[in-house]
Amino acid sequence: MSILIANWKMNPDSLNKAELLFAQEIKNNTKHQIIICPPHIWLESLYKKYKKYIQKNIGLGCQNINHEENGAHTGEVSIKMIKDSGCKYIIIGHSERRATGETQEIINQKIQLTLKHKLTPILCIGEPMVIKQQGLQSVKNYLETQLIECLKNISLADKKQKIFIAYEPIWAIGNFAIQHLNQTEILEIKQSIELTLQNLFSTLNIHKTFKILYGGSVDEKNIKTFVGNNLMDGSLIGTSSLNPKTFQTICKQIN
Ligand code: PGA
Repeated sequence: MSILIANWKMNPDSLNKAELLFAQEIKNNTKHQIIICPPHIWLESLYKKYKKYIQKNIGLGCQNINHEENGAHTGEVSIKMIKDSGCKYIIIGHSERRATGETQEIINQKIQLTLKHKLTPILCIGEPMVIKQQGLQSVKNYLETQLIECLKNISLADKKQKIFIAYEPIWAIGNFAIQHLNQTEILEIKQSIELTLQNLFSTLNIHKTFKILYGGSVDEKNIKTFVGNNLMDGSLIGTSSLNPKTFQTICKQIN
C-alpha cells in the first residue's frame, strides 16, 4: 500500500468545488492510503460530509498549524482546532512556508506539538537548486542537517506513532519541465535519509515509524520513477492533485 497525499495548497476557491474534488479523489480507492490536505477553511465541512469514508485508508490532513497550543496569534490556526475538524495529518515545513521565514526551530516545535496530540506530522525537507548543483553528496548533507534540526529532541512515547518525511527538492516543485532525479539517485537519497533516521532514533524500527515520500511535479507519467518496489513509500502531490482524473491515474499506476 502506497501513501498518496494530495496537497491542494490554496485551492479550490469554493466549498462546492472542494466537495466535488474530494469525492472524485477518494472514489474506488482500495489499494492505497490516500490523504487529502485541503485549505483549513474546508476541513470541517469535508469531514462532516465524508466522515463515513474517512477511515483507515482515507485520511484528512491540513497544510499547517501554529507552533503554539494557543495564544495571541492573529490569523493562525491551532492544533486543537485542526484535530477537532477531523484531521489526523499535518504538513509541516513545506518549502513554501519556509520561504515565508519558518525556521527549523519552529518546524521542530510544530512536530513536537503534533506528536503530543497523537497526530501524524508530514515533515517536508528538500534542497534548493544551488545545493543540487553542488552534487548528490551536498544534497545528502543538506537533508541530514534539516532532519537533525527538525527532529531534535523528538521521542516517541507511543511506538505506534508515525512520522512521514516528504522529500521535495525545491527546484522540482511546480516545475514539470525539469529534468527529474533518476531512480538510482532517488534510491541513494532514500537510503541516506534512512541512515540519518537510524542514527537519530537508534532504538526504533525506523521502517515502521517513518514513511518516506517524494514530491515535486509528480504526475501520471513520472510517478513510477519515484514510488513503488523499494523506492519511496508514497508521494506528496500538488498540482496533479487538483485534477481528479490525473490523481486517479497516478493511483492506478502504482501497486
Ligand atoms: P507540485 O507540488 O506537485 O505542484 O510540484 C508539490 C508540493 O509542493 O507539495
